Amino acid sequence: MVKNSLFTPISVGQKSLSHRVVLAPMTRARACPITLGPTKDTVTYYEQRASDGGLLISEAIHISPEATPTWTIYSTVRENGGQVPGIWTLDQTIAWQEVTEAVHTKGGVISCQLLHTGRVAQPGIGEHPIVRQTTAPLPPVSSSATPLEQSDQPGDYNWDQIAKLPRALETAEISRLVQDYCLAARNAHKAGFDYVEIHAAHGYLIEQFMCDGVNKREDHYGGSKENRCRLLFEIIEALVAELGPDRVAIRLSPTTINPATGKLYQMYFGVTSSDAEDLWDYAIQKLNAYPLAYLLLTEPRVGALSVLPLDDPSIHQPLRNARFRTLYGGVLIGAGGFTPSSALEAVGANAYDMIAFGRWFLSNPDLPERLLLGSPLNLYDRATFYGGGSVGYTDYPEFSHKQNETVSHYELIEQNLIRAAKNSK
Ligand SMILES: Cc1cc2nc3c(=O)[nH]c(=O)nc-3n(C[C@H](O)[C@H](O)[C@H](O)COP(=O)(O)O)c2cc1C
Repeated sequence: MVKNSLFTPISVGQKSLSHRVVLAPMTRARACPITLGPTKDTVTYYEQRASDGGLLISEAIHISPEATPTWTIYSTVRENGGQVPGIWTLDQTIAWQEVTEAVHTKGGVISCQLLHTGRVAQPGIGEHPIVRQTTAPLPPVSSSATPLEQSDQPGDYNWDQIAKLPRALETAEISRLVQDYCLAARNAHKAGFDYVEIHAAHGYLIEQFMCDGVNKREDHYGGSKENRCRLLFEIIEALVAELGPDRVAIRLSPTTINPATGKLYQMYFGVTSSDAEDLWDYAIQKLNAYPLAYLLLTEPRVGALSVLPLDDPSIHQPLRNARFRTLYGGVLIGAGGFTPSSALEAVGANAYDMIAFGRWFLSNPDLPERLLLGSPLNLYDRATFYGGGSVGYTDYPEFSHKQNETVSHYELIEQNLIRAAKNSK
């Protein structure tokens, strides 16, 4: 029998995992509106997706009020309401413990993605009751007072409103910022998360420091790529000192210039860098010094989030992160536009050690088993990605041959048709 490369064991930090199908971090904007912590539904959502020896990565969890946007940039959150969770208070920490316990009970492993959104956040969080009485610094802050421009490009990562000009963090404030990460990491550890993942991707605060399109600083956090990456490495070192390297992980979204257009392959929240090629080579090579539990890389595949399941141009795009495989010696996870067959190929060809699935895991709580058995997948419903209640959150069924005859309103698609979509356009 041919060995399925996705279902072979692998060690990540101190943990031994039994397969390589990872839940990608996904914001669902369904936190408790009072505590800004997870709810009972959040526990169910992660529990449903846990599997024996499988890795789940949490949605982005905010490290402080200053890190926290209200996410009204997403039209469904504007319409349905919806909060994003944090992990800076005791109540939030205790509530996350229920999530990790549910995952561990099923033999799963879970990483806590820590996020500071920088200039993407709005000052409105200051009105929230758990923030109003405190002296917590408020957003938006960034490396420099570089405005986030409006964008009329299609896709959920684009910004369609007037953003408030961010305040440039003072040099002396950076140590306080690093301490905010440490508090959140300690809380994550107390809550039982197996790893913390530093979200240094997708145009948020750390990338706003790394990239010279935003970072115009004249102190030792600006200028050269070494200086622009200084914040990232100060955070890594602080968290490694708190938890040890094998409990710390990182997400990056390297990108390069598309020779056909002269622009970056993928841009998040308007963040660009004139030295994109060198910048990520430098950062990724330097990560070898720790060594961390894993590095999650986003493939810069255009349009990954803006389209319907079977009309998704991202799955036609080639992998572009191959050169990092030679630069980085640790566990490498890939995410972005993977199909069941392209994930198998990528791990089989040793392009990545593990593959994180976003949208297909969102709609298939038992995705690892379906991939192993070749069962059809539930199609996802974009309208319920962000905000709202249990519909589109905890009501995606596990696979059943009788699904189409029962109450589930989610359509099934054969896995080989997802591959066939490659040739359909
Ligand atoms: C609803 C949704 C929310 C997301 N939220 C996050 C997030 O909180 N943190 C993050 O790093 N990436 C986030 N992403 C990106 C995913 O981790 C992943 O890279 C993306 O979905 C592409 O993978 P896919 O093609 O398998 O869906 C999100 C994606 C989706 C669809």
